[in-house]
Amino acid sequence: MQIFRDISSLQLSLNKLILEQKTIGLVPTMGALHNGHAALLEASLLENDITVCSIFVNPTQFNNDEDLNNYPRTYEEDIKFLESNGCDIVFSPSIHEMYPEPPRLKFNFGKLEQSMEGKFRPGHFNGVAIVVSKLFNIVNPKRSYFGQKDLQQFRIIKELVRNLAFNTELRQVPIKRDESGLAMSSRNKRLSSEGLNLAVKLNQSLMAVKKSISDNQDFEKTKILLVGDLALEGIQVEYLEYVNADSLESVKNNSTNNSVALCIAATVDGVRLIDNIIFELRE
Ligand code: PAJ
Repeated sequence: MQIFRDISSLQLSLNKLILEQKTIGLVPTMGALHNGHAALLEASLLENDITVCSIFVNPTQFNNDEDLNNYPRTYEEDIKFLESNGCDIVFSPSIHEMYPEPPRLKFNFGKLEQSMEGKFRPGHFNGVAIVVSKLFNIVNPKRSYFGQKDLQQFRIIKELVRNLAFNTELRQVPIKRDESGLAMSSRNKRLSSEGLNLAVKLNQSLMAVKKSISDNQDFEKTKILLVGDLALEGIQVEYLEYVNADSLESVKNNSTNNSVALCIAATVDGVRLIDNIIFELRE
């Protein structure tokens, strides 16, 4: 496995591989790697000759300094993890390498960024779009892998690729969960053991809401009851939204046949977590 910290030496190496007609898959990450990231790597390894994983805690996508400072950084372990998972190339640039000067670009994703993460983390998707565009330009991957865990992020990146004609095929990889059903996340590393027990309730709640609305219960009432129950357990829900899994537009009742994504963001044990499930309203 090769590790690059600067853009030009990475590109020199990638150019040789492209001349040899090798296909390149890109897995962008912010490190603190876990089996969710491994699922992305596995998908890329299956479809491409060469898998490039980037590790970069991207400051421009954090709307809060405390969150950026608290973000787990486990570089040495990440390298071992990537090596044992069959990654070919790691790109781990410094902040200065990625941003010689602070980027001033502004993206506008319209409605797509006005709800959920976009609403509660202003500027977040602008930072994601800048760094992902830059990674696409640097690596020029044939295929790029992102997780369903960050559903809105995936949808925004799809829009970015379409609007700017990036020559990469996007793949959305299903959410990897631990045995308890908790969605794997780098932020789980910050949870105490009580926090971990509580966090399991996020996925359980999504399943309970799914059951309730499938039994024709009112969407809004179901939501209010659930948010109240979670608050009693010490979980502060930031949002719980029913959205069309593709357009991310709000879904109010079960008069549609479309896939619905039920998305939640909540603070558990001082850590902000997100999760979602996608299902057909009329199964
Ligand atoms: P990060 O949170 O490190 O996630 C990297 C990728 O792993 C994302 O596409 C995310 O959706 C996926 N992922 C995380 N947990 C997962 C899980 N449990 N199952 C499946 N996939 C999972 O998302 C980012 O980094 C950044 O915003 C990034 C795209 C790298 C841009 O900075």
